[in-house]
Amino acid sequence: MRVIKQISKLQLSLLNQKKIGKKVHFIPTMGALHDGHISLVKSAKAKKATRIVSIFINPDQFSPNEDFEKYPSTIKNDLKLLRKERVDIVFLPNKEEIKKYKIKYKIPNFSIENKLCGKTRPHFFPGVKKIVTKLFDIIEPDKSFFGEKDFQQYLVIKELCKKMKLKTVIVKCKTVRDQKGLALSSRNNYLNEKEKKMAQKINKSVKKFLPFFRENLKVGKGTLKLKQDLFKHGIDSIDYLKIFTEQLTIRKKLNDKCRLFIAVKIGNTRLIDNYKI
Ligand code: PAJ
Repeated sequence: MRVIKQISKLQLSLLNQKKIGKKVHFIPTMGALHDGHISLVKSAKAKKATRIVSIFINPDQFSPNEDFEKYPSTIKNDLKLLRKERVDIVFLPNKEEIKKYKIKYKIPNFSIENKLCGKTRPHFFPGVKKIVTKLFDIIEPDKSFFGEKDFQQYLVIKELCKKMKLKTVIVKCKTVRDQKGLALSSRNNYLNEKEKKMAQKINKSVKKFLPFFRENLKVGKGTLKLKQDLFKHGIDSIDYLKIFTEQLTIRKKLNDKCRLFIAVKIGNTRLIDNYKI
């Protein structure tokens, strides 16, 4: 496994891989790796592919009052996990170099960015698009792997590729959960024991209401009851709890492909998740 920090070195290494007929499979991350990330790494495995994982805590996707300063960094352990998975290259961009790296086109905005997470975190998707565009430009991956856990992020990146005619194929990977159904997240590291137990209740509460959402187009009562259930478990605040189609549009028919999207705050920790209906 090669750990590379410099863009030119990375590009040379990738060129050599492409010359011998290897495809490039890319998994962008912010580190503090867990089994969710590792499932992406496993999905990216292919005989004729070089797997590259990037680890970069991207300042542009945090607003000044958010957790950039304390975002967990466990680089030694991350490298150990990636070595075990036999990843070919780990890219650890240098802050200054990646900041200076320029994209030749203007990054477009999409209406789906204004919903859900985009509403309360308006800086988030512009920041994600900026770093992912740079990484795609540098790496030119054939396939890139994203988690369904961050469904809206996956949609935004897919839109970006479509609009800018980027050649990477975006592969969606299933959400990995703990034994209680809590979606794994680097931010779970912030939770103390009591908070973690609260977070683990979300899954059970949501699942109780999924049959109702499946069978009813009018969901006002159901979402209200679900919110009450979550508050009862001690969840401090609910940023959103919405049912949308998988294109983030209003559901019109019972058999529209839909998801329940949820963002909650437990103490100072914001957690997001989504469930197929
Ligand atoms: P990060 O939160 O580190 O997540 C990296 C990738 O892992 C994302 O595609 C995310 O959806 C996926 N992932 C996280 N938790 C998961 C889980 N429990 N199951 C399956 N996949 C999971 O998302 C980002 O970083 C950043 O925004 C990034 C795209 C790297 C841009 O900075």
